[in-house]
Amino acid sequence: FPSHDIGSEKSLPIMIIGEAPGETEDQVGMPFMGVSGKVLDSYLSAHDLQHFSYITNIVKCRPEKNRTPTTEEIKNCAPYLEDQIRALKPKVIVTLGKSAMAGLQVIGTIQDPKSIEWKKPDVHSNFYFEDSVYPVIAIYHPSYYLRQKNALSSNTWDEFETNYDAKFLKVKSYISCLSELPIA
Ligand code: URA
Repeated sequence: FPSHDIGSEKSLPIMIIGEAPGETEDQVGMPFMGVSGKVLDSYLSAHDLQHFSYITNIVKCRPEKNRTPTTEEIKNCAPYLEDQIRALKPKVIVTLGKSAMAGLQVIGTIQDPKSIEWKKPDVHSNFYFEDSVYPVIAIYHPSYYLRQKNALSSNTWDEFETNYDAKFLKVKSYISCLSELPIA
């Protein structure tokens, strides 16, 4: 794996895919080390998910001035993501924002992409890749979350935050129910 990924040494059931390294990530050499990472970490630790999560980005190099990666850049980095999914075979994939979802669509097929629900916590889609199918949960990117925090009135923000939190609970349900299955 590229050296900047978190959790690469273990086989972890949750694969979290962001967009691209920002300035802090570029300096540290790890994903989600800046303000977006603080948001992500707070939700992961609130649900005890941090030790079960492999965190990476769809694009492995920092686009200048943190612009959104181009389709070409996403395509160029796709082979890394393919290798990561093959090696990890996660139980659930979490996409943070649209670029991550676009990346999955470059390497495989998302079931009914129009039905992807960013707001509703109780919905997942499926991602078909090679001979496997992975549940995918689409969560707003933490940088969008931070923009909403500044923009929304307090009632609307409360609702947004409740839904955001519920998405992570939904992620947890995938690994919790697995532990209840009989061991084959
Ligand atoms: N945003 C991302 O999408 N990835 C990072 O690693 C940091 C910020």
